[in-house]
Amino acid sequence: MSIEIIKGENDMPTEIPTRATFMLFGGTGDLALRKLYPAIFNLYKKGSLSTHFALVGLSRKALTDEEFRAKIIESISSETDDKAQAEEFASHFYWKSHDVTNTDHYKELGKIADELDQKYETDGNRIFYVSLAPRFFGIVAKNLKEQGVLSTNGGFNRLVIEKPFGRDYASAKELNDELTSAFNENQIYRIDHYLGKETTQAIPVIRFGNPIIEAIWNQNYIKDVQITLAEKLGVEDRAGYYDTAGALRDMIQNHTLQIVSYLAMDEPNSFVDTEIRREKVKALESMEIYDADGVKQNFVRGQYGAGDGTPAYRDEPGVPHDSNNNTYAAGKIVFNNPRWGKTPFYIRSGKKLATKTGRIDIEFKKPIVDIFAKGTHQPAELKSNVLTLLIDPKIGITLEINTKNSAQGMHTETVDLSYLQSDARAAEVPLPYERLFHDILKGDGTYFASWAEVAAAWKYVDPVQKLWDTTQPDFPNYESGSMGPKAADELLARDGNSWYFPNK
Ligand code: NDP
Ligand code: BG6
Repeated sequence: MSIEIIKGENDMPTEIPTRATFMLFGGTGDLALRKLYPAIFNLYKKGSLSTHFALVGLSRKALTDEEFRAKIIESISSETDDKAQAEEFASHFYWKSHDVTNTDHYKELGKIADELDQKYETDGNRIFYVSLAPRFFGIVAKNLKEQGVLSTNGGFNRLVIEKPFGRDYASAKELNDELTSAFNENQIYRIDHYLGKETTQAIPVIRFGNPIIEAIWNQNYIKDVQITLAEKLGVEDRAGYYDTAGALRDMIQNHTLQIVSYLAMDEPNSFVDTEIRREKVKALESMEIYDADGVKQNFVRGQYGAGDGTPAYRDEPGVPHDSNNNTYAAGKIVFNNPRWGKTPFYIRSGKKLATKTGRIDIEFKKPIVDIFAKGTHQPAELKSNVLTLLIDPKIGITLEINTKNSAQGMHTETVDLSYLQSDARAAEVPLPYERLFHDILKGDGTYFASWAEVAAAWKYVDPVQKLWDTTQPDFPNYESGSMGPKAADELLARDGNSWYFPNK
């Protein structure tokens, strides 16, 4: 049974456009063409940017401004039918051939930035977006500072860094040290696109905007929390990167633990980035870090075999035939803090699973005594209340509650209160990169990972990776199209629990 709740779909607020010159390293890369330019265009259409902005695309390629602008128009073609508007937008784009290792190129870039600041009256505000292979992140930051590309007239300088941010704590710290030798922490925006998703951003409101929820958001009422980030796709054409990363580094260390931090944090004093980050870090640092035995008991890895008429991971293009890479990871997080005590957070993410879904299922405890079980009629067993936050592909919130079945006599049943975002509204929801770009323009670091958060997440994940790197798995251990290895079900069964999705 499902009860539709009236939806709170308010109008989007309008705002004053930001003035800025963007410098986009990796200007003809896959990410830039598929995600970044459409996101910037949508901000332009909605008025967050207007006449006072320019963008310099950078990479080793030699392109004319016209050739670059043609790529921009192509890249935004799915966002508009308005040719004049697309051309006007693209006229703000300039190309500069640039090798990240060549210091002279930065000096030239500094001059171009000064000219564009003047031409577009951008108040000297500069946004440096590094959409390059991670090995280049540090060198770009260093050269931007040393070769004088940073604005010095009081305008802002913001550095945007793509993922992955390191491959363990040591490499992440090294990278962070390089970045912070040129930029302050509050100038650095570490992209995690899951933080640009609607449901992730809604978590603090759902919790701290609703006393009826926050009052029971603790170990006294919550039995367990389950986070599932499941993908139907396999490794696709990214074996070169993915085979050296795996699900633990690719999805758990960043996206999943970020979601965990919003769910587990205490209430910040106010909704500003510094306060929120402080509480998120506290939560992440209170996760119990496992020793090797703890990892064996509390983490599960998997690799997909053939299934659904598709090949095993080891037979995918570019993957070594003896690869021990994990394409699935699940774990049980325990917090050493008073809010969570013994309430486990179960997390899992994998490729080639039965369905594409991102969801958070919060199972509440049942009544201590089920008084209805003592009635004169045979009632259904009371079920746990479950609050589900749907991230992907649908955005929504559902709550399972027990009520009386309308049949004669006292029979209980569970009904589903559900708010699913309408298709019309979903079509208007800004995509993650658009939201994140918007926050970069506004200087709001709320939905970006701070260094302390990234560090805590790596310190948590490192012992798991270390054990997995030094022990032989029995792979493949789940079929493509299934929901992952059996051991992930057993992980919950040992606590008397089970995955809520897709079983219930
Ligand atoms: P691509 O390989 O498509 O693009 C890389 C860019 O780097 C190209 O524009 C290339 O241009 C440029 N480049 C390479 N070497 C140099 C150099 N020495 N000097 C200057 N430019 C150079 O990468 P993606 O766009 O896929 O990825 C970019 C970043 O975004 C990576 O950090 C990746 O992890 C991250 N990311 C990407 C996602 C995606 O969907 N693509 C998703 C999530 C994160 P040229 O050869 O002309 O120099
Ligand atoms: C990326 C990972 O960060 O997230 C990919 O590198 C993964 O491996 C992707 O496929 C999933 O994102 P989404 O938004 O499609 O769930």
